[in-house]
Order: sequence, then structure tokens, then C-alpha cells
Amino acid sequence: MLKIIRDEIDAMMARDPAARSRLEVVLCYPGFQALMLFRLSSALWRRDWRLLGRWVSQVSRTLTGIEIHPGAIIGQGLFIDHGMGVVIGETSRIGAGVTLYHGVTLGGVAPSVDSENQRATKRHPTLEDGVIVGSGAQILGPITIGDCARIGANAVVTKDVPRCATVVGIPGRVVNGRGAPRSEEKPRFVAYGTPTGDVPDPVARAIEGLLDEVQTLRARVNHLESARTGAGDESGIETETPPAASPSGNEDPASKCC
Ligand SMILES: CC(C)(COP(=O)(O)OP(=O)(O)OC[C@H]1O[C@@H](n2cnc3c(N)ncnc32)[C@H](O)[C@@H]1OP(=O)(O)O)[C@@H](O)C(=O)NCCC(=O)NCCS
Repeated sequence: MLKIIRDEIDAMMARDPAARSRLEVVLCYPGFQALMLFRLSSALWRRDWRLLGRWVSQVSRTLTGIEIHPGAIIGQGLFIDHGMGVVIGETSRIGAGVTLYHGVTLGGVAPSVDSENQRATKRHPTLEDGVIVGSGAQILGPITIGDCARIGANAVVTKDVPRCATVVGIPGRVVNGRGAPRSEEKPRFVAYGTPTGDVPDPVARAIEGLLDEVQTLRARVNHLESARTGAGDESGIETETPPAASPSGNEDPASKCC
């Protein structure tokens, strides 16, 4: 038992650069406190002491700001950083080594609609091993987030996410993030889900984009100007020749586009 608790603490220390000692994790990490109280409420729930299980879970919510339903299934090494506002629904499943930041919801899509019929069904997401979910992200419905996928801060995800994918935005879409693990390599944990090295300056990226745009526009203007001068010019400067009409005369112009 003590070894399991020590492993949980070590998993948290390994994923938070701010954690300095095990004692600090025990005293100051609501994610750790909520996880320990969840293990208790879950044991009560599974022994059919449902009300007591729910009550312990509510005590934990009051103390930590993290609400975990005792019916959820949670693997080893869950790290809930900061914690406040995290909600984990009854039929959620969480694999090993998962990281959640504050404000994350693992919820149902429409729990308030026809709730009687939804009671015995899986309504909440499954997070496979090594998933990282950014602050404020909402993962809704009985979907699966594949191994080591990363969900961006404030994303809303209602569809399955493949392993190792990075998903951002509302509705969630897959992007190729700089820190995205490639599927063939062993994914590594990145604190806050964001790589710290080689971060490009966003202003420089914007200026580069504008310069590219200006160059493209300049080339088009030059091209148009030379075509216009060439058309009314008798001096022998090369002009654009109109395309020859197709023999049949009824060729679809769109077929020339690539
Ligand atoms: C999703 C995330 C992991 C991606 O990190 P990354 O691999 O470095 O990805 P990038 O920064 O290269 O972003 C890729 C694209 O997604 C966009 N993007 C990244 N995070 C986003 C987010 N949360 N919402 C919307 N768009 C986002 C970027 O602007 C970029 O778009 P572009 O290609 O048009 O420029 C990271 O941005 C994130 O949200 N981490 C969670 C952090 C968190 O919750 N911290 C709380 C600590 S207390």
C-alpha cells in the first residue's frame, strides 16, 4: 500500500518541475489528495456502499475542488495538476500515466436529456495511457482518446482521437504540433504538454508570413503589368498569346486546372 502511494507521488514529481519533495506533494497537491480520497470512495462504491462512496467523493470535492465520481476507473500514475474545476464522470476510464490540468471535464454529451435511459450506459470518455489534457479542455461522450494523445487547452472534443495525435480548438481538430510525438518513437512526457526548447517567436512567424504574401502579390502585379503593356505594344516585346481553341471547341476549361 505504502509503495503504491510512493509510486503515485513519484509519478507526480516526475511530471511537475515545481515539485521539490514528496512531503510537498502530500501537503500541497490537491491532485494527490483527490486521488487518495478517490481510491477510498471507489473501494466503498465497489463494495456497494454507494451513498458513502458518493459522500467521500463530495468531501474530496469540497477540500480539493476536484470531483471524481467513485464509479470511474483510474489507472496508476494519474497526475491532476492544480486541479480546481476538474470533473471526472461516472463511466470515465483513465489509463496509466495520464495528466490533467485544471478545469478539465470528462463528461457526458447531454446528461440532462432522458437521463433515466442513460443510467446504465457508458456516457463518459476513455483516456488511454499517457494522454495529456490541457487546462479547460472538455472531452464529452463515450469516445476514446488514444495512447499519448495531447488535447490542447480549452479544446472541446466529441470524437475519437487517434494515438499520439494533438488536438486543439472548438470543435477539436488534429494539428501537427511542434512537440507532437511521432508514432514510431516512444512518446516522452512534456510538462504542460508544450515543448520548451526551439520555440519560434510568434511575431517573427507573422512577419515571415506577411513577407511571403507581399512577394507573391508583387510577382502577380509584375506579371499583369507586363501582359498589359505587351498587348498594346508594337515594339516586339513578348506578349501573352491567347490559348489555342480546342479542336472540338467544347473542352471543359476546368479540366486544365490541377
Ligand atoms: C496542444 C498543445 C499541447 C500543442 O503544443 P505544440 O505541440 O507545441 O503545438 P504548437 O504550439 O506547434 O501548435 C500547433 C498549432 O496549434 C495551435 N494551438 C496550440 N495550442 C492550441 C490551443 N490550446 N488552442 C487552439 N490552438 C492551439 C497553434 O497556434 C498552432 O497553430 P498554427 O500551426 O496555425 O500556428 C499545447 O499548445 C497546449 O495547449 N498545451 C496545454 C497546456 C496547458 O494546459 N497548460 C496549463 C498549465 S497550468
